[in-house]
Amino acid sequence: MDTRMDAAATDLKDLQAALMAAVERAANLSELEEARLAALGKKGRIPELMQRLGSMKPEERRSFGQAVNTVKEAVSAALEARKQVLQQLAVAEKIAAERADITLPVREGADQLGRLHPLTRVFEEITAIFEAMGFTVAEGPDIETDDNNFNKLNIPAEHPARQSHDTFYFNEKPDGTRLLLRTHTSPVQVRTMLRQAPPIRIIAPGRVYRCDSDQTHTPMFHQIEALVIDENTHMGHLKWTIEQMCKAYFEVEDVRIRLRASHFPFTEPSMEVDIGAEAIGKPGKWLEIGGAGMVHPNVLANCGIDPERYQGFAFGFGLDRMAMLKYAIPDLRAFFGGDMRWLRHYGFSVLQV
Ligand code: PHE
Repeated sequence: MDTRMDAAATDLKDLQAALMAAVERAANLSELEEARLAALGKKGRIPELMQRLGSMKPEERRSFGQAVNTVKEAVSAALEARKQVLQQLAVAEKIAAERADITLPVREGADQLGRLHPLTRVFEEITAIFEAMGFTVAEGPDIETDDNNFNKLNIPAEHPARQSHDTFYFNEKPDGTRLLLRTHTSPVQVRTMLRQAPPIRIIAPGRVYRCDSDQTHTPMFHQIEALVIDENTHMGHLKWTIEQMCKAYFEVEDVRIRLRASHFPFTEPSMEVDIGAEAIGKPGKWLEIGGAGMVHPNVLANCGIDPERYQGFAFGFGLDRMAMLKYAIPDLRAFFGGDMRWLRHYGFSVLQV
C-alpha cells in the first residue's frame, strides 16, 4: 500500500511538472486558455483525478485528495502568473504595432484643400464692417413679388425703369400676378420697413438676376443693400457711411468718394457712387460701385412709415464688382464658372484671417 501511494505520488509530481510546463509554454492568451482547459477544465486532468476519489478507501482518499489539491493549487497559481505576463506582453505588442511615425508628412485635409470663394470672403468682410457700425443683416427671397421688387419702390407698371431691368418673370398665376427673380436687393428695404418700425439700420447682401450677359455682366450677380431710417438722417450720414465702409474694406486711410447725380424712382435725390481708384493703385481714375440716395417719401409711405417724421438713405453696391476691385480679378464670368484652378488661385484658405 505504501508502495502504491509512492507510485501515485510520483505520478502526481510528473503530472504537475507536465501541466506547469504546458502553462509556461503558452505563448499567448489563447494558448494559455488551452493549457487551462487541459488541466482544470471539465474534461481536464485534475477533475479526472478527482473523480477517482469516489472509489477509494477513506484514508487513501484523504491523502490522495490533498495531493491532487496541491497540484491543482500549484497549476492555478502558475496559470495566474503566466496570464499576467501574457497580458502585459499583449499590451506591449499592441503599442508597438500602433506606434505613429511622426516623420511622415501630414496629409492635406479638407481645411487645407478647400477654398472660400472670393465672394464669400467679401461678403464676410463687408458684413463685419457694417456690424461694427451697428447694422444688422436682413434677408429676403430671390423669388419676389412684382409688388416688392417694383410697385412699393415707386416703380409702377408703366414706368420706363421696368424695361431697363430685363426681368426674369415666372408664368402668370390664375389671378394674373407673376412672380419674378428679384432684379436688385432693394425689395429687402420694403420687407424690412413693412416688418420693423424705425429706427432702422440694416444691410442686405444677396443674389440678384437680370437677363444680361457679357464680359462685365452675368445673369446672376450680387448686391449689398443698405438702409438707414431715422428722424434726422441726412446726406452727410450717407456719404460718411460709404466712406467708412470703403476705408475699412480697401484698408486705406483716405478714400475719395464722388457722388454723381442720377435717377432711381425709389430715391430722391439719387446718385451714382464712384470711388477714387488710387485706393486700388490706379490714381486719376474713378470706379463706379453702385447707386444711392435718400429714400423717396412715396416709398416710406408705401411701407407704412410717416415721411413727415422719418427720412433715410439707401444704397446698393455690386458685391462682385467690389471683389474684383479689391482682389484684382479681371473677368466677372469666371466667378461663376466653377473652375477649380480659378478657385485655387483667387479663393481663400479657410483658416486665413
Ligand atoms: N437698386 C439699385 C440698382 O440695382 C441700386 C440702389 C439701391 C440705388 C438703393 C439707390 C438706393 O441699380
